Amino acid sequence: MQAQSETLKSFETYWARLSPQRRLAVLALARERAHVERFTFNGPCFDLQTYEDDEVILSGPAGTGKTLACLWKLYNCATKYKGFRGAIVRLTKASMGTTALVTFERDVLGLNHPIVLNGPTRAGRLTYTFDNGSEIAVVGLDNPAKFLSSEFDIIYVVQAEEILEDSWQTLMTRLRNGAMPYQQIIGDCNPSYPSHWIKKRSEGGSLTLWNTRHEDNPWLYRNGAWTDEGEKYLKTLDSLTGVLRKRYLYGLWAAQEGIIYEAYDDETHKVAAFMPPGNWPRVAGIDPIGNYIACLWLAFDPADQALHVYREYCAPFGISTPGHVQAIKDLSKGETVWAWAGGGPSERQARIDWTTAGIELRETGLTSVWAGIDRIIQLLQEQKLFIHDCCPRLLEEFATYRRKKVRGQDTDDIEDKEIYHTLDALRYAVGYITAGYTTSSVEVVPVRKRAY
Ligand SMILES: Nc1ncnc2c1ncn2[C@@H]1O[C@H](COP(=O)(O)OP(=O)(O)O)[C@@H](O)[C@H]1O
Ligand SMILES: [Mg+2]
Repeated sequence: MQAQSETLKSFETYWARLSPQRRLAVLALARERAHVERFTFNGPCFDLQTYEDDEVILSGPAGTGKTLACLWKLYNCATKYKGFRGAIVRLTKASMGTTALVTFERDVLGLNHPIVLNGPTRAGRLTYTFDNGSEIAVVGLDNPAKFLSSEFDIIYVVQAEEILEDSWQTLMTRLRNGAMPYQQIIGDCNPSYPSHWIKKRSEGGSLTLWNTRHEDNPWLYRNGAWTDEGEKYLKTLDSLTGVLRKRYLYGLWAAQEGIIYEAYDDETHKVAAFMPPGNWPRVAGIDPIGNYIACLWLAFDPADQALHVYREYCAPFGISTPGHVQAIKDLSKGETVWAWAGGGPSERQARIDWTTAGIELRETGLTSVWAGIDRIIQLLQEQKLFIHDCCPRLLEEFATYRRKKVRGQDTDDIEDKEIYHTLDALRYAVGYITAGYTTSSVEVVPVRKRAY
């Protein structure tokens, strides 16, 4: 008792002697200590905190603590390095408000943190500004314009499997703020299909990919045993079947069931980009309506009797049709495109709009989605269709396009059909080119066809 009151007294004397600034500094330090002790990280989540290589992604099922570990690193660097600039990036801004930002404000900053109390609401928030001038920006890749002119020390990509490798590489060019000793892009992801760029990039050696487990998260597993929350979590995971079980329980990069283009193989069909010679006939396929407008350019190699997809265009809804037409024409400068084909049988209005805007869009001759799919599969099997590696979206869509399952059974519907755009454009182009040929004897010769 005696000793305690003496300690208190000496603390009071010490405190009284401090200048107001010093007191603030001591308080800040105490707050910092409290934070440091708040979490224990294990496994890769722990290693990430001090890892300095250029690119690292934490992979694993939901709930292993990946997001918290990434955010914690951002936060620590922001408080440690004056003038630090960080970014939290996701495919769309809208998906961020409900996930990573909740963890950031609730678990990392704490709901009493001045930044949270004084800041604008989560949905509208653009930047977290710290007392030391450090900043963490929140960015959706659906609207990255301003972001791409800024520079950063650490960029954290939430659910990196959603974005394209191109975007990952573009983000890396923004890493040059220099407020800390190294710059880094970090990310978290759930395992996806085996040929995903994340897996390949890690096998190629430029990306560090670490697998996390539920045992790494002290909220679920502590002192060698599962916590109550952990038990609940495992039960949910245990009810998963098929590919989701492989990915989410075992963390494997397993292939989806019901994949439609199983005939597609990177080794065979993906080739290094080159500009097809001017005498190879060219046809373009356009997906003319929807959230994204897509265009693919195909050229026919007369010697090998094979089609090459040598360029892709995919731009979000919002630009006017004349705007898309202009962009597509600009990309085609100096080339003769024999025909532009696009739209399903009923999308006549879209064809009229495109024609009025300057690209005469023709009907494809295909009566159903499956008729187009069958032709593409046949071309793949016969090695008559090659995709240039400058078409990342199309390559990704090939790997994920699959049948919808109902009560465990494959159906003829496409899962998430509305998110596929370049494959629609490909179907239109291939449908137009092969019109008039039966699927059993496809001879890939561009045919001129009257417009409707
Ligand atoms: N090291 C940790 N200590 C305490 N709780 C944690 C830790 N890591 C994660 N959690 C908690 O576990 C839950 C899931 O973590 P999260 O980072 O969102 O997982 P993931 O991103 O892998 O799905 C969150 O509520 C988070 O606060
Ligand atoms: Mg997460």
